[in-house]
Amino acid sequence: MKIIMVGFGVVGRALTRLIQTRAIDLNRNHDMNVKITAIADSKSLAIDRAGLKLGRILSLKEKKGVVGPGTAEDTHSIIEESDADVVVELTPTDPRTGEPGLEYMTAALKSGKHVVTANKGPLVTAYPNLRKLADKNGVQLKYSAAVGGGNPVLAFGEICASSEPVTKVEAILNRTSNYILTQMEEEGIAFETALRDARRIGLAEPDPSLDVDGLDQACKIVIVANHVMKRTSYITDVNPIQSIRAVSPERVAEARRRGKKIRMVGVADKTLEVRLVELDERDPFAIRGSADVTRFHCAFSGAKMVASSVGGPSYTAAGLLRDLVEVQSSTR
Ligand SMILES: NC(=O)c1ccc[n+]([C@@H]2O[C@H](COP(=O)([O-])OP(=O)(O)OC[C@H]3O[C@@H](n4cnc5c(N)ncnc54)[C@H](OP(=O)(O)O)[C@@H]3O)[C@@H](O)[C@H]2O)c1
Repeated sequence: MKIIMVGFGVVGRALTRLIQTRAIDLNRNHDMNVKITAIADSKSLAIDRAGLKLGRILSLKEKKGVVGPGTAEDTHSIIEESDADVVVELTPTDPRTGEPGLEYMTAALKSGKHVVTANKGPLVTAYPNLRKLADKNGVQLKYSAAVGGGNPVLAFGEICASSEPVTKVEAILNRTSNYILTQMEEEGIAFETALRDARRIGLAEPDPSLDVDGLDQACKIVIVANHVMKRTSYITDVNPIQSIRAVSPERVAEARRRGKKIRMVGVADKTLEVRLVELDERDPFAIRGSADVTRFHCAFSGAKMVASSVGGPSYTAAGLLRDLVEVQSSTR
């Protein structure tokens, strides 16, 4: 399997290391001989049709901040013209435009390459078109790592929906905001202090707005609705999208006195919403810290939950590798 990787940030590098570590197993168990033939970041490009020396690229990126001598302007034509099988798209999520990932994914699918991604932007701005393009060109579009990282939330939902309608989905899928709310509740601290703490442990980005203002959660509920409930929805369909910024320590403490916890929950039923809700502290949805939980309501067999308390780039990389293995199995 020849791969082009676009985006070489924390997830791209974690996936590269995982591919190095798992090379023998992948070959033995899945007949998968993975070669990464091109890697691109925002300003540079490395290409080797025989397979890049991954250790060298990782060290170059760490020391010099680039992946190779090529220029980023050539990334688009490499995607279109190379003989790679898969484009792994890992540029930053922009839920408003889907770019730059949307352009890269479109080029990949049009040129007959499978796409594996964790980037939510293109999936919430243009999923129906991307799906059509993949079907038309007979290639796969896989994005299991975009929701839940390493936790196979979408696959679980797909199994639930295989023989009966899933009528409603509820989800806490933004770990950063759940961590902040938990810290406010357990330490009695203000939002800004809890956010600083989340930054200190590497959970929150320098610009935390996608997480704390509900957009990341909104993206994930759109992707779940489209994948599991076969909707054709976009980020603009989610209303309201509530932020945790305005949650005061007094409100958290007052809820706590009544045995309640405040959580940011995404809901997909007839509408798509991200709301702050009060849950009983014994509710299985009142999860603590950096964790995720999703509940699928099935029309005949009732509600089922999938949850995880681990996350981060290496888990997301494991989700991406799962998709790559599935691409390999489906094309054998
Ligand atoms: N972090 C996680 O655990 C996690 C979990 C689930 C999903 N995701 C999603 O996975 C994707 C990657 O996340 P990340 O944490 O690895 O992000 P990141 O560390 O910010 O890395 C982004 C990478 O994309 C590159 N890039 C930016 N603009 C580009 C362009 N126009 N062309 C080519 N490359 C470009 C950056 O280049 P430079 O290196 O030159 O800046 C960087 O290498 C995002 O969409 C994110 O939402 C991440």
